[in-house]
Amino acid sequence: MSASMRTRLLALSCLLACAMAQSMPWDFADIGTGVPMAANCTPSGSGMPAQWIEMTDLLNFTQYEADALSSDVPDPLPFPYSLTAADTRAPGWLQTCIARSPTAPEDCQGEECNVYIEEWDIEWLEFALLNCFGSYPTPDAVNFFTNPTPPPGNVALTVTQTCKNYYYGPSDEWDFFYSVTDEWGNKWALQWGNKWALQTVHSNDTTEAEFDANIGSVVWPEGWVAEKVPLTETVEMVPFAVGNACYALIIKDSNFNSWHLYTYPEGGVTSGDTLFGAIGKGCQCLDAQYTLEGMGGAPSSAPSPAP
Ligand SMILES: *[C@@H]1O[C@H](CO)[C@@H](O)[C@H](O)[C@H]1NC(C)=O
Ligand SMILES: *[C@@H]1O[C@H](CO)[C@@H](O)[C@H](O)[C@H]1NC(C)=O
Repeated sequence: MSASMRTRLLALSCLLACAMAQSMPWDFADIGTGVPMAANCTPSGSGMPAQWIEMTDLLNFTQYEADALSSDVPDPLPFPYSLTAADTRAPGWLQTCIARSPTAPEDCQGEECNVYIEEWDIEWLEFALLNCFGSYPTPDAVNFFTNPTPPPGNVALTVTQTCKNYYYGPSDEWDFFYSVTDEWGNKWALQWGNKWALQTVHSNDTTEAEFDANIGSVVWPEGWVAEKVPLTETVEMVPFAVGNACYALIIKDSNFNSWHLYTYPEGGVTSGDTLFGAIGKGCQCLDAQYTLEGMGGAPSSAPSPAP
């Protein structure tokens, strides 16, 4: 079987796992165990712009990103798209490198690895698939469409299928990044300030004082501790590889900031001693059935959900 066919089968089995029962939870165990592994890509060197936007196709939870501002696109975006983030780099965040778009062939070379679509005169890179969304410690405290921000004392988990490395390092501006250690000792890095279209608080953080106020006002679950980690050299943070797919494990805090897991637990993410073990079957599959249920039928324009 070719590698690309395996990728397709894997994607298909994930979709089936979600589609067979809409209340069925997403589970790493369904697709097998994995290991932390760098995505096969080379950082461009030029870095990302200071700001960019992300949208999600709500029919299949495919995510796209573009170097543009939320003011450059219709508000709200026409269905099936939803503007899911308008991002500002977090301190220490240099860039990402993406091995391939989810629909690019597994054995792709060069530019064929990047799948673009054009909407509103903007070129969008297809970069990820969203798998599931759930909350901790209160189960069902979030809803992707109606209530994506976790209440104080909770985090929301998004399992995202994407073959991407993150690079953090010292720059003229920053010599640290924000990190939070969860109650199991696993670590998450702040990706960007909360600049979600519908959010107002902290949406324009740029200075250290503003970021400090933002992170300092997050209400974490008990036992979670945030800190600034000094940066003296570039750090590569890698995805979790399962078969031919890669996953980024992303949380939202009570201020709706995004953080990704960058130290992986012994025994992988299926070991019980993790946020994933604790959420258990509580991470709800994101799929088209869930979409229609969540939106009460076919809408003319989509709400702006997480993440
Ligand atoms: C998602 O659907 C769009 C059409 O709305 C399609 O162009 C795209 O290829 C699909 N992505 C995946 C991963 O199936
Ligand atoms: C953030 O900045 C934009 C312009 O850059 C402005 O329109 C918006 O009101 C600001 N939001 C807040 C919460 O300050």
